[in-house]
Amino acid sequence: MSFRYLGNKTKLTDWIIGEISKVIPSGSSIADPMCGTASVSLALAQAGYSVTAADSLAFPVIHARARLLAKKPPAFKAFGGYDKAITWLRSVPSKEGYFFKEFGDKGQPANGRQPRLYFSADNAARIDGVREAIRDLARSGDLDELEHSLMLHSLILSTNKVANISGTYGYFLKELSKNAQQTITFEPLYFEETPGNHSVMLGSIEKHASSISTDAVYLDPPYTKRQYAGNYHILETLAREDEPIAEGDGGLRAWQEHASDFCYRRFAGQAFRKTLELLSVPHIFISYSQDGQVHEDELLAILQDYGKVTVHEKFYNRYRSNKKVQAGNLLERLYHVERF
Ligand SMILES: C[S@@+](CC[C@H](N)C(=O)[O-])C[C@H]1O[C@@H](n2cnc3c(N)ncnc32)[C@H](O)[C@@H]1O
Repeated sequence: MSFRYLGNKTKLTDWIIGEISKVIPSGSSIADPMCGTASVSLALAQAGYSVTAADSLAFPVIHARARLLAKKPPAFKAFGGYDKAITWLRSVPSKEGYFFKEFGDKGQPANGRQPRLYFSADNAARIDGVREAIRDLARSGDLDELEHSLMLHSLILSTNKVANISGTYGYFLKELSKNAQQTITFEPLYFEETPGNHSVMLGSIEKHASSISTDAVYLDPPYTKRQYAGNYHILETLAREDEPIAEGDGGLRAWQEHASDFCYRRFAGQAFRKTLELLSVPHIFISYSQDGQVHEDELLAILQDYGKVTVHEKFYNRYRSNKKVQAGNLLERLYHVERF
């Protein structure tokens, strides 16, 4: 899944899973409770682990459900098969609704601000049409829960491809980009029959940590001050299937309720401590970058209060929202904490 997402570990999964597998064998259970795109969850599942994925936001949970739980195309009885469900997605009529008004380049935001150029008017109306059609099908009981998640997963991936942004949804570009001028399209997903028993949950690590009973936990917290809830507000709205008030010029949904302590310099260290205190699993792996909110010495000192710490390092090219990436410019660290 090509996905522009801050902190996406797609390019690091071989290294991460390689280190994890030296400690807990394939077949063990592991949680990825800050799963984002679910790229690490999927790579762990492919390597034979049973994975419990979670995130405090709703759209990563949709991704994880689609990538872990749908091991083959569901029946999609309402359409007579998965291929026909995709054909249906492509043919849903447009509708000038919430996305058209709030996020389309010919829209009229309810708060009187200038049109927001997140999407071309045509694509915004297509998104509205598909959103409503998926909602109606789910409400009438014609989609089961997993089919519903797969539909939303497809909608999120397709929307992402035509979004007029430079990487995150914090704001839109001044002119419609080439990608944004393309017509939104829906491609069939790839399904993978992984061997483990997987599960997916919505909610913060603070909420779930004490009930996680897997052999290990992989933590991939935010490391910059950029809050995911604000920077991906449009994807969250697609996943939640609601129509929140679009605030200010950027049209962000209220995100403060989902603000992550890991994004605040003054709270991040304490957030690590709280998480480690709540977790009672024998092995904890943590991805954290060289330039994270918590300085490497501070993080090491925190982790050493909870177990024996081993640090693995790798240089790599990080995704930057402004696309300016220098070769091998960042040091990514994988900490292994073996609990006392
Ligand atoms: C660095 S990203 C994870 C990237 C992911 N490993 C991937 O490859 O796509 C951090 C994720 O943590 C989530 N998050 C932030 N604070 C959280 C919290 N307190 N509990 C659970 N998830 C949280 C964010 O929504 C985001 O999806």
